[in-house]
Amino acid sequence: MKSQPVALVTGASSGLGEALAPLLAQKGYKVYGMSRREVALPGVTSLSCDVADKVAVEAAIRELTLQSGRLDLVMHCAGIGGGGPVEHMPLERARKIMDVNFWGTYMLCQECLPHLIAAPKGRLLIVGSIGGFMGIPFRAAYCASKGALQNLVESLRLETADTNLQVSLVTPGDMATNSFATQYRVPHEEVHERYRRRYVSADNGMRDHVGDGMAAGEVAQKMIDIAEKKSLNPQYIIGEFTQKISPIARRILPGKWWEKLLGSYYK
Ligand SMILES: NC(=O)c1ccc[n+]([C@@H]2O[C@H](COP(=O)([O-])OP(=O)(O)OC[C@H]3O[C@@H](n4cnc5c(N)ncnc54)[C@H](OP(=O)(O)O)[C@@H]3O)[C@@H](O)[C@H]2O)c1
Repeated sequence: MKSQPVALVTGASSGLGEALAPLLAQKGYKVYGMSRREVALPGVTSLSCDVADKVAVEAAIRELTLQSGRLDLVMHCAGIGGGGPVEHMPLERARKIMDVNFWGTYMLCQECLPHLIAAPKGRLLIVGSIGGFMGIPFRAAYCASKGALQNLVESLRLETADTNLQVSLVTPGDMATNSFATQYRVPHEEVHERYRRRYVSADNGMRDHVGDGMAAGEVAQKMIDIAEKKSLNPQYIIGEFTQKISPIARRILPGKWWEKLLGSYYK
């Protein structure tokens, strides 16, 4: 008898991952939901783990594969944001963003790859961000961490080209989740006045955009559709038209033109 395919969804305690995990269970996957907090979702086995902790990631994937005997699909949604001028962002906060978003992804890949490659049709979808295509003011560490995922995915795809595994970066635009409310942001009153007006405006703008963003369930369904494709593209952008074209504009416009265009939103 064919055994049930197994999926791991990281960041399953909130937002995108929380929407994805039960949808995959409904599709017939045995689903593990990973996050630091307990996951209590229908059809989902909770796997407690801090992705920035190498020992914890090793133990979690060992436990998963010992229990399930296979791993077919990883939807890596765990991630954190954070805001503030580079000059004022506490270094440990900026490092944490890199540790979770980039190194957490790297360590998860190290543990999952052997199992995904052994699967008949392994799929690894890593959640980046449109902010990974460009440097957004007051979001430097976040943009850098998500930008680094682009190169990680490019390298991985080439390294695993001869295997059954397909890797893709999924970059959503704004999603209405708890991510903005729960992330660290340098308090407005603590930033130097040379930044304050633009920082407050950018910060409030981000809050509003996230609040008006896509429903996590909509993005989750699109990710499932992507995972079911026969052949995956290196990247998928999920978002409204302006968010979809901004990475293209970033690539084709001369640097100073792009800076002028993006800068006009952050005046
Ligand atoms: N919301 C947006 O507008 C937006 C836009 C573009 C991209 N994204 C990206 O989409 C992904 C999902 O974001 P979301 O909006 O759904 O955010 P969210 O609601 O804040 O959920 C984030 C998830 O990541 C988990 N997580 C955070 N740090 C972790 C750690 N150290 N170890 C394990 N799990 C950790 C959280 O669980 P615990 O706290 O329980 O550990 C939570 O389940 C993130 O990668 C985010 O960067 C979001």
